[in-house]
Amino acid sequence: MSHKIVVLPGDGVGPEVVDGAVQALVVAADKFGLALEFDALPFGGAAIDEYGEPLPPHTLVACKNASAILLGAVGGPQWDGGEQRPEAGLLGLRSALNLFANLRPVNVHPALAEHSPLRAERVKDVDILILRELTGGLYFGQKRRDGDTASDVCSYSRDEIIRAARVAFTAARRRRRHVTSIDKANVLETSRLWRETVSALHEADYADVELRHELVDSAAMKLITSPGSYDVVLTENLFGDILSDECSVLAGSIGLLGSASLGSSALGLYEPIHGSAPDIAGQNIANPIGAIASAAMLLRHSLNAPKAAQAIDDAIYNVLQEGARTRDLGGTLSCTQMIAKIIAHIRQ
Ligand code: IPM
Ligand code: MG
Repeated sequence: MSHKIVVLPGDGVGPEVVDGAVQALVVAADKFGLALEFDALPFGGAAIDEYGEPLPPHTLVACKNASAILLGAVGGPQWDGGEQRPEAGLLGLRSALNLFANLRPVNVHPALAEHSPLRAERVKDVDILILRELTGGLYFGQKRRDGDTASDVCSYSRDEIIRAARVAFTAARRRRRHVTSIDKANVLETSRLWRETVSALHEADYADVELRHELVDSAAMKLITSPGSYDVVLTENLFGDILSDECSVLAGSIGLLGSASLGSSALGLYEPIHGSAPDIAGQNIANPIGAIASAAMLLRHSLNAPKAAQAIDDAIYNVLQEGARTRDLGGTLSCTQMIAKIIAHIRQ
């Protein structure tokens, strides 16, 4: 059986880094006997230019019928203030496919600990998995503008909290069995429901995992002062968006990190957590590692191919160990040169 991979290169550096992810998948599939078919489709700003909307219907249909979706990045200044926003395509896709669980792992490669703005000894043991709820909260509540007043509604149901929390607890069982649930329960009603629901679920089904609750403001501080004290971080949509960018600096560069957005089937959406970086687009200097790490997550979560996934992760680890560095890490390698090095390692 052949797996259909929909590729959405998107905007800015998206096409440059996604090319590395596709090459990694092709080589890993060849090595481990997987049959993959790729279909590249318009998405984001590029789709607005061509079709007048960021998520054209034929792109959405192909995504729904795929085994997995590989995405570059969306957005750019040329679409700011326009009627259609590239980001709306991404939110529309997450929501249409019901991808409620966003996994954002943050690990520090020992050879890169010096690149973190924090002292190396503080970041060297960092191994955090952020589980960001992805289809609820402020992002998807009603939005209104009445003259000089605007509002965004934040709402969560118990079921939405439970399904995200289950993914976090299950992941913790395969790691260090610790979940930190982050909210703002001293102020927000949605956070009070969040805390109450996570606690009840923990007591009922996951008492073997340790659970700690933290308020988002103090967590933002502790993620910097003692990042090594976190294992799985469970949080709602907006807090997860903000905290995952914060945590990315621990790794040395946001260009290193991949992500998976999952729902209740095997279909998932995989993308680097960095944005479209319009300032460096087209210059062949972006770091492709976040996109290639996302390809490894795709193999693991959607195609159930852990060996092929591990081969890609190992290749990334080894090239960094050997000192390969793109500009964001103070090196001189171009995007395509870094891709070539990783591909050569996967082949070995
Ligand atoms: C992310 C991005 C998106 C988000 C944007 C592009 C809509 O920042 O995936 O973290 O806010 O979720
Ligand atoms: Mg973000």
